[in-house]
Amino acid sequence: MPRVTVHRKAHFNAAHRIYRKDWSDDKNFDVFSKCSNPHYHGHNYELIVSLTGEIDQETGYVYDLGKLKELIKQEVEEPFDHKNLNVEVEEFKDLIPTAENICVVIYNKLRKVIADHLDIKITLYETPRNFVSFEG
Ligand code: NI
Repeated sequence: MPRVTVHRKAHFNAAHRIYRKDWSDDKNFDVFSKCSNPHYHGHNYELIVSLTGEIDQETGYVYDLGKLKELIKQEVEEPFDHKNLNVEVEEFKDLIPTAENICVVIYNKLRKVIADHLDIKITLYETPRNFVSFEG
């Protein structure tokens, strides 16, 4: 059977601060520059969730994109949208909320709720020009 990849785009706004708690503000500024601003800053994150698998012969689908939309809403948009990631999101209490780490957290959350026979790839845009991807 042909293996096909289906994609769903989503969006959330969130604030973060890129810093290490065990470093001084000066050292954080040296390493992370303005991203370490103690007063936080925000991004308009654009997310692409891609699922690869065989087409189901009964439905003609690789995955129901309406169902994927709901899973992204439940696992990503509701917990992350309009939140301060450092302060309000449990996964980042002890993990720096860089785009890289956010991408892995999203992958792990979706991996738990999407069947194992499907491959997942997460692409996360932090700005229109800066983006990261992770596929496990
Ligand atoms: Ni930032």
